[in-house]
Amino acid sequence: MRVAMIGTGYVGLVSGTCFSDFGHEVVCVDKDASKIERLGRGEIPIFEPGLDDLVRRNVAAGRLRFATDLTQAVRQAEVVFIAVGTPSRRGDGHADLSYVHAAAREIARAANGFTVVVTKSTVPVGTGTDIEHIIREEAPEADIAVVSNPEFLREGAAIEDFKRPDRIVIGTEDPRAREVMTALYRPLSLNAAPLLFTERNTAELIKYASNAFLAMKITFINEMADLCEKVGGNVQEVARGIGLDRRIGPKFLHAGPGYGGSCFPKDTLALMRTAQEAGAPLRLIETVTTVNESRKAAMGRRVIEAMGTPPRGATVAVLGLTFKPNTDDMRDSPAINIVQSLLDRGVQVRAYDPVGMDEARKVLPAEVEYAASAYACAEGADCLVIVTEWDAFRALDLDRLKTLLRRPIVVDLRNIYPPADLIGRGFKYVGVGRPNGE
Ligand SMILES: NC(=O)c1ccc[n+]([C@@H]2O[C@H](COP(=O)([O-])OP(=O)(O)OC[C@H]3O[C@@H](n4cnc5c(N)ncnc54)[C@H](O)[C@@H]3O)[C@@H](O)[C@H]2O)c1
Repeated sequence: MRVAMIGTGYVGLVSGTCFSDFGHEVVCVDKDASKIERLGRGEIPIFEPGLDDLVRRNVAAGRLRFATDLTQAVRQAEVVFIAVGTPSRRGDGHADLSYVHAAAREIARAANGFTVVVTKSTVPVGTGTDIEHIIREEAPEADIAVVSNPEFLREGAAIEDFKRPDRIVIGTEDPRAREVMTALYRPLSLNAAPLLFTERNTAELIKYASNAFLAMKITFINEMADLCEKVGGNVQEVARGIGLDRRIGPKFLHAGPGYGGSCFPKDTLALMRTAQEAGAPLRLIETVTTVNESRKAAMGRRVIEAMGTPPRGATVAVLGLTFKPNTDDMRDSPAINIVQSLLDRGVQVRAYDPVGMDEARKVLPAEVEYAASAYACAEGADCLVIVTEWDAFRALDLDRLKTLLRRPIVVDLRNIYPPADLIGRGFKYVGVGRPNGE
């Protein structure tokens, strides 16, 4: 099947590459010419484990191409995916649909023969209908079906998630489109991945409802962590204790510095706005977003408090900057709030991240210093903070760290070290929702 993927970012590049790996003929289009140029040279513009190999193999097999020319790619395609960004609109938190609408206009003008246009971007309920109107306005004769097929992959495990999804949601009531989508995903249904066909509006809602629910789960355990700290208790054991209940499940119950990333913050906000305007406000989600924002802001204070009165010119070593491990994505990372609040209090920040430092330089203030390794980051610092739980930080030589730090204080915002390992070596330890040994 011939596929055009419009938008070659985290979702478009992974989805397009995986479709080509199933044997489909895919052209990934992006209007960012430098991105396409890099891909043409075999360079992968994002960090995603396993992606470089998969791209190389499918390009070599002639099934995967990269282009800036949307018209040509769409003209030849039976299925066209829209995988462009839907960031928060400045000011009101609504999803900014300008990229989606612009792509729809271009697709309408280029489509040739029956074409299924699929939104993979996360878009508010009703966007499929808007796209249909745009297409009708732009190309009244075009034979196009608009389908919603939200993407649930996680950065850092994107290929595995795409190839072994829990479910594939397809929102359409058009029988021809249903047939095309079934054929497209046939290789996955052979793996027993359930295809869930729904109405288009429902499919659009499922994506937001999933992200809002997960954000709520994280926020729940974060608040439980705060309670554990006040009344005595270990949030990791609470999480295990409730997670073993199959009605609850163990995932997304890791207390930490608050959720960030390219999806949860913007999607919860967009869903909230949709619900408010529809007159059915989601009060739970409104609270989740407020609690999460104040949590991110509180993490800088936690670090300062761990140092007591920080000495003049104190330096904090920050390990991990990306919003989670195995990605270079810095969008809405809690590290941004933490670093800013430390700088606001006159503390110097030295940071290290295994892959995210290039992206971090684009979003963090210029005063941040970057180190070449975790140990170089710790050298002479008054406190070490673990912000992202990269595997590379899980087995640091604690004795060596102790000799490198000016003051042996560790704030482990991801609870990756047993407190006893640190306390037993004479560190001052602060975790999240765990007894600190004092
Ligand atoms: N990142 C994730 O983990 C994830 C997971 C599930 C869903 N999503 C959703 O998928 C969508 C894309 O997210 P992303 O993280 O891949 O975004 P991204 O910013 O990494 O990529 C979007 C790409 O689209 C390109 N683009 C924009 N307009 C275009 C046009 N008219 N023609 C061609 N290219 C165009 C941009 O240049 C950019 O490269 C969003 O709606 C997001 O919410 C993301």
